[in-house]
Order: sequence, then structure tokens, then C-alpha cells
Amino acid sequence: MHTSPAPSGSFPSVRLRRLRQQPAVRALLQETRLTAGNLVLPLFVRHGDRMRVPIGSMPGQFQLSVDQLAAEAREAAELGLGGVILFGIPEHKDAVGSEAMSDVGIVSLAVQAIKKAAPDLLVITDVCCCEYTDHGHCGIVNKKTGRTDVDNDATLELLARQAATHARAGADVVAPSGMMDGMVAAIRAGLDGAGAGHVPILSYAAKYASAFYGPFREAAESAPQFGDRRGYQMDPAADPGQALREVELDLAEGADMIMVKPALAYLDILRSVRDRFPGVPLAAYNVSGEYSMIKAAAAQGWLDERGAALESLLAIRRAGAGIVLTYWAKQAAKWLAEANG
Ligand code: PBG
Repeated sequence: MHTSPAPSGSFPSVRLRRLRQQPAVRALLQETRLTAGNLVLPLFVRHGDRMRVPIGSMPGQFQLSVDQLAAEAREAAELGLGGVILFGIPEHKDAVGSEAMSDVGIVSLAVQAIKKAAPDLLVITDVCCCEYTDHGHCGIVNKKTGRTDVDNDATLELLARQAATHARAGADVVAPSGMMDGMVAAIRAGLDGAGAGHVPILSYAAKYASAFYGPFREAAESAPQFGDRRGYQMDPAADPGQALREVELDLAEGADMIMVKPALAYLDILRSVRDRFPGVPLAAYNVSGEYSMIKAAAAQGWLDERGAALESLLAIRRAGAGIVLTYWAKQAAKWLAEANG
């Protein structure tokens, strides 16, 4: 698909530097473009009043209480962002993550506040149990079998109810991230049954068990209390074809959009999903660890944050993602506006 034309000559008649020496020629040849409208900003929402709690592992990011969201949403809309994706930090965690299914749960309150302040801003909600369960796993933990495991099929009903709850609150898109088999079909049925047939599903289809989620787990207070997520998230060493099977299954179950996560260590996966499923809206999650690494190096003066961040986002787009979820969304929109203005 990306083959170069046969060489038509060689040095000294051919000099590729001619394509680079003038800024105007470089500008003419730009293929991959970053625009604010393709970027989605993750937000962490919590209970409380006038709370803007800095997340230690993610400089520049905060846990926000609902009253803070109006201003945040208006700013995101004014910057022309593609949307926001919400992660909730509940008041109480329990074995089944009850708050995730409550109409007065944190995410429902947040969606309503954002929709009131900025009705046209796209609001995506993350649908998963890990922020809401006391054990921090992405579903119900089954001890019946003698080994601790997330009970896939028992979890599906919870995910369907959580998605329907978010849709009732006004979410525009729901994004299941728990890597349960059958989650998209269960959520589709749950949404349709709740009169939310119009709400699309953005499935975290190929989500790897990654060390790069470390900072997020502090932000969302969602670290597993025992074990790890390798029983449901993908193995980085698995045949890359498994990612294509995940995508294929999710599409068959009714996913409207697909996500690959993380982004930077999985650009090959993004590219192969793009090539195999042209026309399917494809998102990539530039995850917390990818953000915090650059932030940390920039704080030391070892990297230029703006250059490294924009180059990362460009690489993700070049690999085939149309949509990029990134903690730099607002900042990148400002950088891009400066560069264009
Ligand atoms: C919830 C979820 C996670 C992330 C997004 N949704 C954490 C995890 O799977 O442990 C990670 C996002 C990030 O690192 O920025 N399942």
C-alpha cells in the first residue's frame, strides 16, 4: 500500500534536499496534519466542591469536581477540540462498582454539567468497572473457581447498565475499555433497549496490558488491588493478528468506532488496523505514561515539550489514527493555533 515509485534517477541529478530546503516547499508537501478537531481530551471527575486536585503523576492534569466542568467544557469547545472523554472517581467503591450504574453517579452528573455549559461539545464516557470496584479490576471478580478471575459474562450486564446510564445522562458516545469478550454486543443491546439506539460505541478494541497506564491509575485511583490485567488486556508479545481479530469481532458486534491503545508503542498495530479496515473510524489513545514521560523529561530540560508532544501526535496520525485521545489536547490546540496565526 505504501510502496515508493521506482527510482527515476540518482545523485547528482536527484537531490531530495530540494524538497526540504524552502519552508514553502516543505509546507506544500505536508501530508499528515494535526487539527484540534481530531483531538479528544480525557477528564477525571470527582465528587466535592471547587476541587481541582493536581495529579502528581501527570503534571498539568487535575481531578475536577463537577462545578469545575462548565469552564473546562467551554474552553474545550472554544479551542475546537473534537470532544472530551470522562473518567469518574466514585465516592464509594464496592465489589460490583454500583456507582457506575447510578443516575446520580459522578459520570452522570459530569455529563449533565458539560452538556449544560457547552451543548455542542462531544462527550464520550469511558465504560469500565475498574474505577468503581473496590478490587480495581475491570469486572466482577469470581472466586468460585478457586482462582481469582474476572467473570466475563457476569460483567457484561454491568457494562450494559453503565452505558445505558451514561446515555440517559446525555453522553454522545460510550467507550467500553474493559476488554471483556462480547462487551460491544451487550452494550449495543443495553443501549437499544434503553431507547439509546442513536448512541455510537467507540470500542477500545485492541487494548494492551501496558506499563504505560501507570500514571493513569493514580489519576483515576483504579490500580488493581491484587494481580494484574493480563487475563483480559492483550499481550504485547502476541501475534499482531490478534489485534485484527479483536477489531473484527467488535465490528461484528456493532462497534461504530475502534480504538488502539496505547498509541506510541503500538504504531504498527494502528497501521495494520487502518489498512485492513479502511473506512472504520480509528482512534488511538496517547496514554498517561506517554504523556508523563515527556513531561518529566521536559521538566529536566532534556526534551522540548512542545516539539516532542506534537511529533508524537503527528506520528500517531501518520500511523493511521483519525482521532487521538491525548492529555495535550488543549495545549496542542493552542500550539496549533499559534503556528497558524
Ligand atoms: C480503564 C482505563 C485505563 C486507561 C483508560 N481506561 C486503565 C487501565 O486499563 O488500567 C488508561 C489510560 C491512560 O493510561 O492514559 N480500564
